[in-house]
Amino acid sequence: MKFSLLILDDEPMVCNSLRRILEEEDREILTATNLKKAREVLQSEPIDLLLLDFKLDSTDGITFLKEVREDFPDLLVIMITAYGNIDIAVEAMRNGAYDFIQKKEEPDFIRYTVSRALENLRLKKEVEELRRSFQLESPLPAIVAFSQGMKRTLYLAEQFAQTDSTVLITGETGTGKNLIAHYVHLNSHRFNRPFISINCAAIPHELLESELFGYEKGAFTGAHQKGKKGLIEQANGGTLFLDEIGELSLDLQSKLLHVLERNEIYRLGAETPTTIDVRFIAATNSDLQELVDQKKFRLDLFYRLNVANIQVPPLRERKEDILPIAKQFIENFNKKFNKKVHRITVEAENFLRSYYWPGNVRELRNMIERAMLLNRSGILKMEDLSLNPIDVRCPEPPSDHAQFKVLLNPAKGENLLHLAQRQLIEQALEIAGNNRSRAARLLGIPRTSLNFYIQKYGLKE
Ligand SMILES: Nc1ncnc2c1ncn2[C@@H]1O[C@H](COP(=O)(O)OP(=O)(O)OP(=O)(O)O)[C@@H](O)[C@H]1O
Ligand SMILES: [Mg+2]
Repeated sequence: MKFSLLILDDEPMVCNSLRRILEEEDREILTATNLKKAREVLQSEPIDLLLLDFKLDSTDGITFLKEVREDFPDLLVIMITAYGNIDIAVEAMRNGAYDFIQKKEEPDFIRYTVSRALENLRLKKEVEELRRSFQLESPLPAIVAFSQGMKRTLYLAEQFAQTDSTVLITGETGTGKNLIAHYVHLNSHRFNRPFISINCAAIPHELLESELFGYEKGAFTGAHQKGKKGLIEQANGGTLFLDEIGELSLDLQSKLLHVLERNEIYRLGAETPTTIDVRFIAATNSDLQELVDQKKFRLDLFYRLNVANIQVPPLRERKEDILPIAKQFIENFNKKFNKKVHRITVEAENFLRSYYWPGNVRELRNMIERAMLLNRSGILKMEDLSLNPIDVRCPEPPSDHAQFKVLLNPAKGENLLHLAQRQLIEQALEIAGNNRSRAARLLGIPRTSLNFYIQKYGLKE
């Protein structure tokens, strides 16, 4: 851990001699001989420790001590007092100074006092990070994996966890992408450092940039706000999970690419970069390749993210997992709702196994939760398993009988693939009675992609 120190004393001689005494490899030492300079440094640099002379020309040290305690509550302050002036030292400590040193003190003693303060700071930072990573994140639920598909997913996650490379997790909504991202983090050497996750779709574009990159004091006109660390910096030493990466604007995509390539960020309003040590995991349920084709996603970023790809299979493709996951949810909700459900009827089991699960594990979880809330008999029956009103509109899996016919009369210069695509989409919409979710499922593509094609070909339902 590298520390930055600022010495504020109006005598340059004192600044220089203290600097010589305190100089060490892992310390950056800055000096200021007046308040204006000191304020500038504090606002533009992340200073850990301020050595503050009690007797300044323009004001007394205690007034300035109060000011910095207010503006930079995490900053450690050591007061420099004249020899034998213990009263002032006591007052300084009462006002939040961490310690004091007296001028003309033995250099060894000064060194010792400063090292002790920095050691204390280092421990505090470590404890804070540990606490954040273990407390803020709810414990990871056991990941059920009986199917080959899910076993392979976990195997890949464990392998990638050993490296520091960027991981891209893809899969339909509700398949467990967040869970896998956290699993990668916990299996990596960063497990006891922060795991910070941000949903790119949930935050307006204008705010997302400052959330991610942070900003310097005064980066926004008219505001007197303090500088702020962004999420990337907060994840330092740990993992940053960028959920719904497909929603990132092109502008932020190029900034993110820079971060991934250089391991450095520019806070908003900053002229110099800050080095970072963060593992990135991204997830999406959209087809990034398709977004690349639409020029909505940068190809170079796609390549950079796609170094290690984990595809989480949809629930319908890993039927062996359905009942074990359902049983895990039943156990959880038994505890949560104080119920005693101990069995599922054969009919209900068959339904769970054969249902299409467009909302995947999340839908399964919701269905079990609803069923258990109502259940009195201790046995989960078919009638308990009502579908969510949204699902009711399209509960059935795609019909095996749905047949598509494509008729093409090749003409010079025509893109046959596009013509075929257009016909397939028109037919799917027709078969699905214009229900886009269902049509998308018939076509085996995400609904968002279908929307895109409908727009692209100017189709009317
Ligand atoms: N294999 C599994 N075993 C147990 N629980 C699971 C499993 N997979 C997913 N879940 C649970 O299913 C729910 C949805 O998972 P998660 O939020 O990770 O999905 P997601 O793919 O990130 O969804 P979205 O695309 O909507 O963001 C969570 O409650 C999660 O704990
Ligand atoms: Mg998610």
